[in-house]
Amino acid sequence: MARVSFALPELSGSTAERYADLAAAAAALTDGELDPIANAANLSALVKAAVPDLNWVGFYFYDGTELVVGPFQGLPACIRIPLTRGVCGAAARTRTTQRIDDVHAVADHIACDAATNSELVVPLVGSGDELLGVFDLDSERRSRFTDDDQAGLEAIARVYVESLQPGRVESLRPQRARP
Ligand code: SME
Repeated sequence: MARVSFALPELSGSTAERYADLAAAAAALTDGELDPIANAANLSALVKAAVPDLNWVGFYFYDGTELVVGPFQGLPACIRIPLTRGVCGAAARTRTTQRIDDVHAVADHIACDAATNSELVVPLVGSGDELLGVFDLDSERRSRFTDDDQAGLEAIARVYVESLQPGRVESLRPQRARP
């Protein structure tokens, strides 16, 4: 039967170790589920609850023309972002993670929440090299995101992309059958 309650994973150790535990929790949370909305919703909630000092965590999906807001945790956000605009647009366009220590120094930053001071946006690219969208994290703290945060959150983004691969369900079946 499906799990009906959820306990946050116990995270301890260095930042890298905590993110490794969080990635394992993210993989468990998406295990056997292929729905892109369901997995984005649960991963947003997991990361927002587990990682300190974030005021917005969520997904934008590429609809073939622009980015459209998906599941997130935080204040209501800009609905549509062209690939030519903002930090999210830059991540999608260049397919490289954008780490911004001070969003006020970025001319075309789109301020959805005026409280945001730093930002990390990870592009989501599928197994066929197609752009799926971006995973966007905002903080009220300046320079919130370190190298370890970036590596850890890129790993969570990979868990999300991999969760959408049908083959993954098959490969995880024997593990799920364990007592
Ligand atoms: N700040 C982003 C827009 C999205 S919100 O932060 C949720 C940007 O400049 O792309």
